Amino acid sequence: MGKYQPQRGTYDAYGGFLNCFNIVLNVLSEMAKQYNYKEIITPIYESTDLFIRSSGEGSDVVRKEMFSFKDRGDRDISLRPEMTAGVIRSVVSNKLYANADLPLKLFYKGPAFRYERPSKGRYRQFNQFGVETIGVTSYLSDVEVICLGYRSLQELGLLDVKLKINTLGNQASRERYNQALKDYFQDKIESMCEDCKTRFNVNILRILDCKVEEDQKIIKECPKLDDYLDDESKEYFRKVLEMLDQLNIPYEVDNTLVRGLDYYSGVVFEYHYSSPEGVNLGAVGAGGHYPNLVSEIGGPSLECVGFAFGIERLVTLLEDIIPETYKEPDLSVFIGHIGKEAIEHSLLLADYLRENYIDVDLTFDDKSLSSQIKLANKKNARLFIVVGEDEMKNYVYQVKDLSQKTQMAVSYCDLVDYIMEKLSPSINDESEDFENDED
Ligand code: HAM
Repeated sequence: MGKYQPQRGTYDAYGGFLNCFNIVLNVLSEMAKQYNYKEIITPIYESTDLFIRSSGEGSDVVRKEMFSFKDRGDRDISLRPEMTAGVIRSVVSNKLYANADLPLKLFYKGPAFRYERPSKGRYRQFNQFGVETIGVTSYLSDVEVICLGYRSLQELGLLDVKLKINTLGNQASRERYNQALKDYFQDKIESMCEDCKTRFNVNILRILDCKVEEDQKIIKECPKLDDYLDDESKEYFRKVLEMLDQLNIPYEVDNTLVRGLDYYSGVVFEYHYSSPEGVNLGAVGAGGHYPNLVSEIGGPSLECVGFAFGIERLVTLLEDIIPETYKEPDLSVFIGHIGKEAIEHSLLLADYLRENYIDVDLTFDDKSLSSQIKLANKKNARLFIVVGEDEMKNYVYQVKDLSQKTQMAVSYCDLVDYIMEKLSPSINDESEDFENDED
């Protein structure tokens, strides 16, 4: 067990988990690049004030979940609970909007921190991958972002995505709705939970997110946002949905979807996925349109839209649905030596193959050939190259295919091509035929 364990809500990543984690990040990054998003890396900590301003004083994130501290210079610092605020802060600090053809399209990945109660798919240090489009002038940017998220999940092999979507309406609609909620909850709030009482004063919309059963009954009867949307907001939302239809992206309009962060206005959405075991991990990703954040933190008036995925939740799903992704990749080649003299030659050969982008392992212990083959099998090696006295003299090697149990003598100059062919799946099939022909 050792003396120290990882902190509550944190974990160590290695083996199959890490393999899957990296596959997810690679796929998501490649997808974002296809849509011409450029990567940005921002600091893991920022001033606490930035997060209060962006997520909102009334959000759970700010009220209960931030890792905040004073640094040695007496500054109020917080570990980022999400990455949108930092990215927008960076866009403003560096005036990235000034030289770019808008919209600016950025993607990012990295850890975020929330002091939540840990459970399956919920950590205190977790990883997000997200995108932000800055300088939105058309509803089509909202659609493009939603589409990127949806297609990325498909690319990962998650074909059964449930996209929930809603509109919070424009500022004017929201203000009218907030007033209607105030009027409705005014004489009911005393009987509701403490969180709702706070939300009533700081961000009344968040009451709709309350999970307390007794409160739910009251919330069910409250005014519906739909009835307070003005024509402009309705038309915008209608056009977004129509375009999603044209893109064949299925969705479910969920009028109760309000999201946990304060900066949204207009379209909001979440991607859900049920694991085959029926485990509910919550949303695997979420986002929306946020029109005022850039100006609120000192930049020009630029509307934005974006989303973020929770990487651990995606990895947990893939482990269930596509277990192959959770496996460490096979080793291509193991070099076995016969006799002490062949060990150095084996390392030289390994160096040559590695220079040619072939992954190779070997042992420097003086072991019998059969125990080296056992070791190669344990490491899931595809090919086993034997280096003995003859091989060192003639530069012709026996290459064993460990799964097909075949063997071939290959000269040094043909070795790289031969290995590449063996490792490539389609050509592999042909070589089987070739071996059969020889029989
Ligand atoms: P969010 O809904 O707070 O949005 O988080 C996005 C995703 O991060 C969630 O859907 C979930 O998959 C994952 N996540 C959140 N908390 C945890 C946790 N404690 N453990 C594991 N995964 C978690 C945002 O963060 C916004 N910044 C998204 C956005 C980008 N909106 C506009 N642009």
